[in-house]
Amino acid sequence: MSGARPSILLTGKIPSSVLARLESIGDVDQYRKDGVDVMPHDELVARIAGKQALVSMITDAVDKAVIHAGTELKIIANAAVGYNNIDAAAARERGVIVTNTPGVLTDATADLTWALILGITRRIGEGERLIRRGGWKGWTFDFMLGSELHGKQLGIVGYGGIGRAVARRGRAFGMRIAYTSRTPKNEPDADAMPLDRLLSTSDVVSLHCPLTQETKHLIDQPALARMKRSAYLINTSRGPVIDEKALAWALRMRLIAGAGLDVFEHEPTVEPELLTLENVMLVPHLGSGTVETRTAMADLAVRNVAAVLSGQPPITPV
Ligand code: GLV
Repeated sequence: MSGARPSILLTGKIPSSVLARLESIGDVDQYRKDGVDVMPHDELVARIAGKQALVSMITDAVDKAVIHAGTELKIIANAAVGYNNIDAAAARERGVIVTNTPGVLTDATADLTWALILGITRRIGEGERLIRRGGWKGWTFDFMLGSELHGKQLGIVGYGGIGRAVARRGRAFGMRIAYTSRTPKNEPDADAMPLDRLLSTSDVVSLHCPLTQETKHLIDQPALARMKRSAYLINTSRGPVIDEKALAWALRMRLIAGAGLDVFEHEPTVEPELLTLENVMLVPHLGSGTVETRTAMADLAVRNVAAVLSGQPPITPV
């Protein structure tokens, strides 16, 4: 293909300014179909043929079938920080570079995490539902009391960029920080501890680890049973890190006080029992969902494509 304009497959919608930049790099084949937001897998396999670059979304399963069909593929630029949707080992085997978008979504995701922490501890969703169904009978002294955060322990599972950004906000709310991490960080005002201890001592547990074989169902029935009955569980990482059925059980049995979830095990399906419970706040995978951050994510993905297609090293390889 040397000399020819490269062909690029784009599976989702990105801001027009960033799309224009991608179009200046090569011929863009963009998936668009009204009412079907996720490109069907067989179409992805068919349309990857002859493409040098793929800009993928987290809803695309970029598996062996896709990677093998993309015989000319040089780069898979995932427009997300998590890349569990990509068979990175198969890509590596075929010499295809995989990139993600770390850093640019850290603050947006940490903010949304805090929206869930505040929302569930102060019962905001529950209160809003009550008002909307006409059920509010007026102020009383002991009505819908929540719990406070200052002086309590925020336990962060996975202390990367987002986990640390959540911790910074936690300090501003007067919380003590505990964390688990594969690589201990040298932070004087945060306590590294094993997961079991973090679970049994934290008042809010927030998940920020990637989804891998090791972290799938990391929070299962025994893990939930280890948590304080007064504790809250927050997940803005990936749904399958929690066994969702076990969580519904723990919430129903009041083994924990509440949960705030931005991600789900089988998106967009939500474990039906969770929909019936008041002590859980549910948000449709909005962690990085701001105009500024989604633009920055798309832009970084496109800059990775530009770098690799012009023979430069990728900016943010996984
Ligand atoms: C979003 O979920 C991401 O991983 O960027």
